[in-house]
Amino acid sequence: MRVRKVVIPVAGWGTRSLPASKNIPKEMLPVYDKPVIQHVVEEAVRAGIRDVVFVTSRNKAVIGDHFDYNLQLEEVLTKAGKAALLRKVRDTAEMIDVIEVRQKKQLGLGHAVLCTRAAVGNEPFAVMVGDDFITGDGAGLEQLVQAAEKYNMPVVGVMEVPADRIDRYGMVKGDEIADGIFRISEMVEKPAVGTTDAKLAIVGRYVLPSDIFDYLDTSEPGHGGELQLTDSLAALAKDRGMLAVRMKGIRFDAGDWVDYLCANIFFGLQDESLRAALREKLQRLALI
Ligand code: G1P
Repeated sequence: MRVRKVVIPVAGWGTRSLPASKNIPKEMLPVYDKPVIQHVVEEAVRAGIRDVVFVTSRNKAVIGDHFDYNLQLEEVLTKAGKAALLRKVRDTAEMIDVIEVRQKKQLGLGHAVLCTRAAVGNEPFAVMVGDDFITGDGAGLEQLVQAAEKYNMPVVGVMEVPADRIDRYGMVKGDEIADGIFRISEMVEKPAVGTTDAKLAIVGRYVLPSDIFDYLDTSEPGHGGELQLTDSLAALAKDRGMLAVRMKGIRFDAGDWVDYLCANIFFGLQDESLRAALREKLQRLALI
């Protein structure tokens, strides 16, 4: 199984990030010096994927623009002799090829994925939820791609979450067949707290066969009246089997303010030129 394409839905309103996301797509909010979407795309690139299908809506053109050349800016940077910055802005144009698909109505994650049927075609593909990004050596989508290739099965990425937070996620149960690899026996989208003992939460990372489109096409609206990807995955898992892979690394949910702010600090601290000053100021602020 060779995974060449990734679908990244970016059509949502970003209500959790208002008012910052009123006129800027939430995916373009910065986490340190890059927009959230670039962190997500770089995770896909680390997994060996270069073809990115963005599922967009009105006012999201700037996301595609970020992964295109900005020749005027490049000229300004060239004339100013700012070679390092020039490299950075050019790199984003060269890291992926973009296909944009329009989701004309926001009817759920399952619907967003279904919109990409023609763009994906008849081959396995990855899905990444654009709010979540995962960082760390060998962590993130590349773990899923490796597992999908090794076992030749669909896979979803999971992490353990506290019992009082299961109503925010697609939840998964299964038997551990190898270290951190589970054969899925049950999947449910956002169960009410206390209604299942499932502990593994889907963290917005999937590698799927193109058959999933048939399931999505005939699926009924589920949780919240939306077409849920998890419902079609549960049906596919029952018919064909599916694996869950426990993700390594650190996950940030960019739509959650605590995670968003921590992600900014985390990436700022990775930059040697900022680290000492940032630590010193944070320590002083923490005392207030
Ligand atoms: C979506 C999926 C859910 C998954 C989550 C991960 O939910 O439907 O199964 O656990 O992403 O972030 P959303 O957060 O879009 O409501």
